[in-house]
Amino acid sequence: MTSNGPIVSIVGTGSYLPERILTNADLEKMVETSDEWITTRTGIRSRHIAAAHEATSDLAAEASRRALAAAGLTAEAVDLIVVATVTPDMPFPSTACFVQDKIGAKNAFCFDLEAACSGFLYALDVGYRYLVSGGARTALIIGGEKLSSVTDWQDRTTCVLFGDGAGAVVLQLRDSGRGIIGSVAGSDGTLADLLNIPGGGSRHPSSQETIEQRLHFMKMQGNEVFKHAVRCMCDAANKVLSRNNLKTDDVAWVIPHQANLRIIQAISTRLGIGLDRFCVNLDKVGNMSGASVPVALDEAVRAGRIKKGDLVLFVAFGGGFTWGASVMEWDHGQ
Ligand code: ACO
Repeated sequence: MTSNGPIVSIVGTGSYLPERILTNADLEKMVETSDEWITTRTGIRSRHIAAAHEATSDLAAEASRRALAAAGLTAEAVDLIVVATVTPDMPFPSTACFVQDKIGAKNAFCFDLEAACSGFLYALDVGYRYLVSGGARTALIIGGEKLSSVTDWQDRTTCVLFGDGAGAVVLQLRDSGRGIIGSVAGSDGTLADLLNIPGGGSRHPSSQETIEQRLHFMKMQGNEVFKHAVRCMCDAANKVLSRNNLKTDDVAWVIPHQANLRIIQAISTRLGIGLDRFCVNLDKVGNMSGASVPVALDEAVRAGRIKKGDLVLFVAFGGGFTWGASVMEWDHGQ
């Protein structure tokens, strides 16, 4: 889509990371791995892990409060809440409804969206479309995950990668500026087997057997996923730029999904956008699936890196497979 009518902007960002930090040294005591393997293969040094009493909606609600405060809005102003997550509090009600209750957004309608690590960008696009069509005026778009609840802590090939957290943005219509310029999305369901949680759904409902087979944990063929991630994110980034008559030189900042530093380096090389223009925080937070992009965005905004007028490119890839890219002009200060 291309915006040549109503202007939709991000008017506030917020994020929340749980207090507990799990380092690579901690993981060395849990599985057969090493800080050296994890840092050289992934770039990750530590990640945050939610407390037992914290669910995804708790993380998402705190990120939302911070985003609303940054926007100077109360929760009553929100009329749409979308939570992108693969780790909802429960199969239903939606995590978005729990967030609504926690923050007191009594005027909002709420639903979850599942597109794995691309979920936040899909949700941002959905929010954009509600606003331009007049279906909502103020939307809270959230990526929140408690991946520690679906991580197999006995599987060294996955447990070193993931972390918990949430990020939120407030979307509103504006009178001037450019805001969200365009977005693209894609999916390939033929590759679903490479990255999934097989158990606990209607295919393999939870049972003694699914638990014994550890089917309720994330499974990933990492090296296969790696290749597709690089290709799909580069294609999506190039497509969203060319469709909107933009060049890579126009991009001030790239906010990529934070799965692996080597993936980000490969994208940087292929796109011809220097790594110094990528906002990277995976060393401290790991892969937070749908929360990765909005948390990295919030950190960059609060650090004063992203300035009014900067062109920001978002790009993500995840299970499904799913991928997406969005481009916007940053048009407010915090
Ligand atoms: N510590 C030590 N050794 C390990 C570990 C570990 N934690 N994990 C795997 N190894 C070993 C493997 O057993 C293998 O050993 P072998 O050669 O004796 O068989 C060796 O290291 C290499 O394994 P690979 O899987 O080939 O390692 P690779 O370099 O591909 O790195 C990784 C693995 C980090 C998972 C990488 O493939 C990756 O980042 N993939 C993409 C992840 C991604 O983008 N996911 C998408 C989003 S996630 C989502 O949607 C929820």
